[in-house]
Amino acid sequence: MSTVSTAKYPLSVKLFHSLIALLMIATLVIGWQLEDNEDLMGLHKSLGVTVFVLAVLRVVNRIRTKDSVPGSVNAVGSMQYLAEKTVHGLLYVVMLGVPFMGWLTSNAFGYPASFFGLFNLPTLIGKNIDLAEQLGGLHGLGADAFVVLLALHVLGAIVHLIVSKDNVFKRMM
Ligand code: HEM
Ligand code: HEM
Repeated sequence: MSTVSTAKYPLSVKLFHSLIALLMIATLVIGWQLEDNEDLMGLHKSLGVTVFVLAVLRVVNRIRTKDSVPGSVNAVGSMQYLAEKTVHGLLYVVMLGVPFMGWLTSNAFGYPASFFGLFNLPTLIGKNIDLAEQLGGLHGLGADAFVVLLALHVLGAIVHLIVSKDNVFKRMM
C-alpha cells in the first residue's frame, strides 16, 4: 500500500543527495578508466575525497534534520519498506566505506589521499604493497556493490514514478 503525502525533503537533504550522486557516479566512471589512464588518478582521488567529506556532512545533516524528513511512502513492515530501508542504509555504507577504502589503499601504496593538491587527508597506515593490493581489491568490490545498489535504487525510484505514481521522485528532486 502506498500513501501519497505532500511532505518534501528539506533543501539541504536534496542538495547533498544530488551533489553526492553526481560526484560519486563521476568518481566511479573515472575509476573504471584508471587501468588505461593512470593520469586520471589525481582526479579520481580528489573527487572521491570530496564525496567522503560530503558524505560525513550529509550524515550529520540527516541526523540534524531527522524530524523534518518525510516518512516512507511504503507501509511500515511491508516488503517494499524493508527493501527501501535496506538499500538506503547500504547506500550510506558504500558512500562512506568505498572512499574510505580508497583512502586506505592510497596510503598503503605510499601516497596521501590528496584533494587537488590543496590538502591531504591524514595518512592512516604506512606503505605496504601487499596490503595495498588487497585493500584495492576490496575498494573495487565496494564500487561493484555500489553499482548494484544504485541500480536497485534507481529502479525503485522509477517504479514509484511510473507504476505507483506517488510523489517520491518529486519530493527528493
Ligand atoms: C542518480 C539517480 C538517483 C535517483 C533517480 C535517486 C532517487 C532518489 C529518490 C526519489 C529518493 C527519495 C526516496 C523516498 O523519498 O523514499 C532517494 C533517496 C535516497 N537516495 Fe537516491 N537517487 C539517485 C542516486 C543516488 C545515489 C548515487 C546515492 C548514493 C550515493 C543515493 C542515495 C540515496 C539515499 C541514502 C536516500 C535516502 C535519503 C534519506 O532518507 O536519507 N541516491 N533517491
Ligand atoms: C567516491 C567513491 C569512489 C569510487 C566509487 C571509486 C571507485 C573505484 C574504481 C571502480 C576503481 C577501479 C577498481 C578496479 O579496477 O578494480 C578504483 C580504483 C582506485 N581508487 Fe577509487 N573510488 C572512490 C574513491 C576513492 C578515493 C577517495 C581514493 C583515494 C583517496 C581512491 C583511490 C583509488 C585507488 C588508489 C585505486 C587503484 C586501486 C588498485 O590499483 O588496486 N578511490 N576506485
